Amino acid sequence: MAAETEWILIVDYGGQYTQLIARRLREARVFCRILPSTCAAGETIGRDGLMGVILSGGPSSVFVPHAPNLPAWFSSYDGPVLGICYGMQLLALHGGGEVKAGREMEYGPARLRLRPDIPLFESLPGEMTVWMSHGDRVVRLPDRFRVAASTDDLEIAAFADTLAKRYGVQFHPEVAHTPKGETVLRNFLFAVCGCAGDWTSEHVAEMKIAAVREKVVAGDVLCGVSGGVDSSVTARLVHEAVGKRLHAVFVDNGLLRLGERRWVLETFREAMGIDLELIDGTDLFLRRLEGIVDPEEKRRIIGCAFVELFQEWAREKGNISYLAQGTLYPDVIESVSAGGPSATIKTHHNVGGLPDTLRLELVEPLRDLFKDEVRALGRMLGIPGRLLDRHPFPGPGLAVRVIGAVSRESLEILRVCDDLFIRELRDSGWYRKVWQAFAVLLPVDSVGVRGDRRSYEKVVALRAVSSVDGMTADWSRLPDDLLSRVSTRILNEVPGVNRVVYDISSKPPSTIEWE
Ligand code: XMP
Repeated sequence: MAAETEWILIVDYGGQYTQLIARRLREARVFCRILPSTCAAGETIGRDGLMGVILSGGPSSVFVPHAPNLPAWFSSYDGPVLGICYGMQLLALHGGGEVKAGREMEYGPARLRLRPDIPLFESLPGEMTVWMSHGDRVVRLPDRFRVAASTDDLEIAAFADTLAKRYGVQFHPEVAHTPKGETVLRNFLFAVCGCAGDWTSEHVAEMKIAAVREKVVAGDVLCGVSGGVDSSVTARLVHEAVGKRLHAVFVDNGLLRLGERRWVLETFREAMGIDLELIDGTDLFLRRLEGIVDPEEKRRIIGCAFVELFQEWAREKGNISYLAQGTLYPDVIESVSAGGPSATIKTHHNVGGLPDTLRLELVEPLRDLFKDEVRALGRMLGIPGRLLDRHPFPGPGLAVRVIGAVSRESLEILRVCDDLFIRELRDSGWYRKVWQAFAVLLPVDSVGVRGDRRSYEKVVALRAVSSVDGMTADWSRLPDDLLSRVSTRILNEVPGVNRVVYDISSKPPSTIEWE
């Protein structure tokens, strides 16, 4: 990054939405850094190009002992500031205002009435819907500030010192539930901070490659490749950064889709110019999964087996010091609960859980990106569409799509159904229109009739969803005739299945995968 590149500093108070703020800024083509509130002055202000500071929300209350505070350098910083939720309350206290503990949480949508002539709210209507998620509230304005917006329940829902360019908002402008939130953030960037917005995705690639190069100092890098978007982009970035010091390894865990192993090996060789090294772990994975029903236990077993295989491979190879993984931001927030409000939902296998004995340092260049951003990055790096446009596929593979205990037979049935569904989606042009689609084998036998005989066979569920980033999703309204064709083909062509159902659940409250 050039020294003069403009950037925004996001001070992180552990909020669930901090990365969303960063994402909105990237969408507005403004570079940002997220730093913890404890970081020292030398690491932050004083750098060229700092255009403004955003204080994020967070799970804490300013009233709890040792609540995170404003960074030490803040009192000598006089540039633009936007405090969001917890960040607003800190800003209020800093300026001599008063915060009161709420008796109960205000959570959900609220109607916000905006005061006129506030640059942060430029070009917005007088009233708009916003998303609230807080307990404490600001009850007295800090010196020189005035009320910028109110709701029926909250007199000081936003405050402003327009001269000093300091703002606080109690609502969350970064979430999709605040429909005009993007305009609020853009106003902060352009009307308040005076950013130019010339940061592009080429910059992201350059920055990521430079960061990998900086991190990988001694030794080679092992990169586990699955053939999916994330690990392919990771492998390409690491390849660009360190060339032959990258060893890209593909593990066949016996939980792959039909024809996957061959497809991945060939595609990588032909389209990426990277020769994958193959580890066949089928027997190991399937043996360990025998009789295991609990999804989290399956994930744990699979995660451990991956680590063991990588460890053994690295030991044999020698000189491997790093493990590159395609961990994305949604994997991080859904897997980690740092005592905050974002409870652990599923322990996605590539987050945390790596034992100290691995002795490989992690390289995770995509850790702060969302799926669609990774796809854009991949396109820029010249990765072919047939790799980038693939639907996401979970690390634990078909093990979390065979509900209950996994066996070679059940995997075989699921593979054929899944392949048939995906082929039909491709042929009808629907593969590209949905975010993810797959089949699930249920541990349920149902009664049917085949010829003149009673049958008692398996049920297969089809799932297709639309989503932007996998964090929320809705079921896809696939055309009746397509669903009918898939169902008829499965029932006629796959022995052992006599019923097909279509999943019409959204996330939340369901998740995309069944396990
Ligand atoms: P859920 O089921 O949590 O899925 O709504 C969100 C996205 O994450 C994928 N997923 C996983 N990916 N390891 C992964 O690498 C996992 O354990 C895992 N579980 C779910 C899922 O396919 C969807 O795209």
